[in-house]
Order: sequence, then structure tokens, then C-alpha cells
Amino acid sequence: MIDKVYCADLRPDMEGKRVKLAGWVYRKREVGKRVFIVLRDSSGIVQIVFAKDRSEEAYKAAKKLGIESSVIIEGTVKADPRAPTGVEVQADVIEIIQNVDFFPITKDASEEFLLDVRHLHLHSPKVASIMKVKATLMQAAREWLLQDGWYEVFPPILVTGAVEGGATLFKLKYFDKTAYLSQSAQLYLEAAIFGLEKVWSLTPSFRAEKSRTRRHLTEFWHLELEAAWMDLWDIMKVEEELVSYMVQRTLELRRSDIETFRKDLTTLKNAVPPFPRISYDEAIDILQSKGVQIEWGEDMGADEERILTQEFEAPFFVYGYPKHIKAFYMKEDPEDPRKVLAADMLAPEGYGEIIGGSQREDDYDKLVERIREEGMKPEDYEWYLDLRKYGSVPHSGFGLGLERLVAWVLKLDHVRWATLFPRTPSRLYP
Ligand code: 4AD
Repeated sequence: MIDKVYCADLRPDMEGKRVKLAGWVYRKREVGKRVFIVLRDSSGIVQIVFAKDRSEEAYKAAKKLGIESSVIIEGTVKADPRAPTGVEVQADVIEIIQNVDFFPITKDASEEFLLDVRHLHLHSPKVASIMKVKATLMQAAREWLLQDGWYEVFPPILVTGAVEGGATLFKLKYFDKTAYLSQSAQLYLEAAIFGLEKVWSLTPSFRAEKSRTRRHLTEFWHLELEAAWMDLWDIMKVEEELVSYMVQRTLELRRSDIETFRKDLTTLKNAVPPFPRISYDEAIDILQSKGVQIEWGEDMGADEERILTQEFEAPFFVYGYPKHIKAFYMKEDPEDPRKVLAADMLAPEGYGEIIGGSQREDDYDKLVERIREEGMKPEDYEWYLDLRKYGSVPHSGFGLGLERLVAWVLKLDHVRWATLFPRTPSRLYP
């Protein structure tokens, strides 16, 4: 580890201080007998000036540098209002770690090309900003979960059954058996509440979904919570408090990263409890009043959700969905057996669903019936059904798609930009 400072640590009041920096060449131009380099590291950028009359050796070396070359430089800090960050370093020592003659990514690269060379695209400060925002959202989630008394658990990824429908399971050979990649940790979290009551996990979830939409990945990061003794209304409160804390804290810690992507912060600032709540019935009425062809009982797709989000300036809930369009584990509404005690949280500005949650069916017989109705075999869910035999309790939970949250917070046009190496039906490499 070298003893260096970060670009973003340099301030005009450090004038005259000697510093060492390490990073990559982001921009380069030559003016007379000086070479100007914008150096980039994980913190940001700073201008470095190599003047021939200060150090001819360093100046000559700097002249040769290509974009994205890795370097260590030493020099003296100087305040300069013309420099991009109000400060520059007048360098007299340079160590070129690796010179790059030609960096494959140029200004006019297409999106597809950027994804083809995603391993190099990660050099980009804009991509770094997205990853920082994602990390900070999770840091905030951890802060909130810790202070609210939730235990982190670590569920398996290799599983034997479907949570969200057999059609989107990734199948694999497990010695002489068949296994699947987990679609959701939910069923395992439900088991964990009997010892820990309030649990959460962050896992990759997999969906063999061929849908090429701007909000589907085949592998995404899933933040899931499950709690004993909570009903649907209790878990919705947890959802809005958690999401609000994640968003407000990230606004506080990562404002400039966020502002690189969106100037208008209104909907983010509006993400404070209570989030608006509308019933599925009301959602259908709104859609019909806007001329959308949808009948009660039909599922809302991305298009319908986008239209619905025009009514809101903050995240909001849609609750009380018809039973037949939702998963088998959701509890039937005792006041209307056509419905389940489920709620989705939708992000505004066209983004739509970021959370799916529900109260769980805690009655053994009802759950068996639902499994059969869905054309599945109760034998395949034996251990899960056991949870309803030995001290069953009312409980609820939800799953938040981290990339979808990031996409809304940064107004990205596709969730793939919110992931390090996106996995979609057509992309498994790099
Ligand atoms: O609504 P989903 O399918 O719900 C579940 O998986 C529940 N078992 C979660 C739970 O209750 N513990 O997925 C939850 C969230 C969605 O709202 C969405 O944000 C995200 O996961 N998600 C996806 N994100 C990206 N690509 C996909 N293909 C996704 N599928 C779901």
C-alpha cells in the first residue's frame, strides 16, 4: 500500500503542501511547454500540471501518457480557480505503472459496446458513482436494520423448489439430483423467524425471465425481510421506513453522485412516511379512467404501472391484489376471499414496482389448498408446510430489488446500469 492522498481530499487551503497521488489518466492536453492531466481515482478527479521548466524528466514522461494509463505522481498543491476542482498539483515526479497506448472505450461508444467491455467500462467515474450510490443505499439499509433489531441471515442459493413460479427457474444438475438457483430467500427466511423473529438477507436472486424490459435482469440483488407477529399493514410500515431511510441517508451522503444523474430531487425528498396507499381496485379505476384497457382481475404490467406512477410524486403502495395473479404463499383476505393481503411498492417517475410483499398464509390447510390450486405438489413443500404445523404465527415479509431502487434513485433508463456485470437473456459475459 502506498502512502497517498485521494484526489477529492485536495483543497485550496492545502496550497504549498507536498502530496503523492495514484490513479489513472482521465484527460490529457498539452499547452506550450506544459502537460495537463486530469487524474482520476476512486474519490474523483484533480488536475495535474507537468511543466518542462519544473522537471524536464517528468514532463517528458507525461507527454507519452495515454488515456487510462496508471501512474503515481508527486508534487505540490496549488489553488487555481480555473482547475476543475479549484485546485491543482504541480508535479515533478511521475512513476508510470503501465502506459496505455489506446483505451478501447471512446466517447461515441454504443451502449452495447460498453456492455461488451463492461470490465473496462468500470473505469468510468459515472459507473463508479452508480456503484457508490448502490453501496450507500445498502450501508443505510444496514444502519436501519441494525437499529430496528433485525438479524441478518445467510440463506442458501442452491434450492429444490420454486417460490415465484416454476416458469422462471434456472435448473442445474446437482450430482444425481436436480437443483435450482434461488428466486427468493423468502421460504428460508420464513423458517428463520421461528428462532429470530425479525430477519433479513441480501442475496442474488435468479429469474430465467426472457422478458427484455428495462427492469428485468436474470440475476439481481434481493433485499428481503421477514417478521413474525406482523400483519400486512405492519410490514408496509417497515417497508416505507426502510426505503425512506435508505433514500434520505443516501441523499445526505452521496448528493453529488446523485446530481450527476438527476437535477430534480423532488421525488427522492418526498420519500418520507407515510407513503400514499391505494387499493388494487382504485388502481384499476384510475387506469380505466385514463383509457387503459384493463379489467378487474388482470395483472398490471410495466406499462400500466408507468401510467399509474404519473399520479404520484413519491413512492406509493398498491395493496389488495386479486388472489389468482399473486403467489401461493400469500394470505387470503378474510374480508374478501378473492383477494390476498399483498402490497407492492411502486417508485414514481415511471419506474413502477420496486418491492413485492405480503402477509403469509399461516394456516396449514389453506396453504396446501393454494399449492394444489397452483398445480404444484404439497410433497415438494413438505418442510415449508411443517412451519404451519409447529407453532405457526402470523407473519409477513417482502423483497426489494436493489437494482430497481438504484435505477429510480438515479433515473437510469435500464436496471442493467445498476449492476456491476449485468446478466440478461442475451448477456452472460463478461
Ligand atoms: O415480487 P417478487 O417476485 O417477490 C418475491 O420474490 C418475494 N418472494 C419477495 C419476498 O416477499 N421476500 O420480487 C421482489 C422484488 C421486485 O419487486 C423487484 O424489485 C425485484 O424483486 N425483482 C427483480 N429485479 C430485477 N430483475 C428481475 N427479473 C426481478 N424480479 C423481481
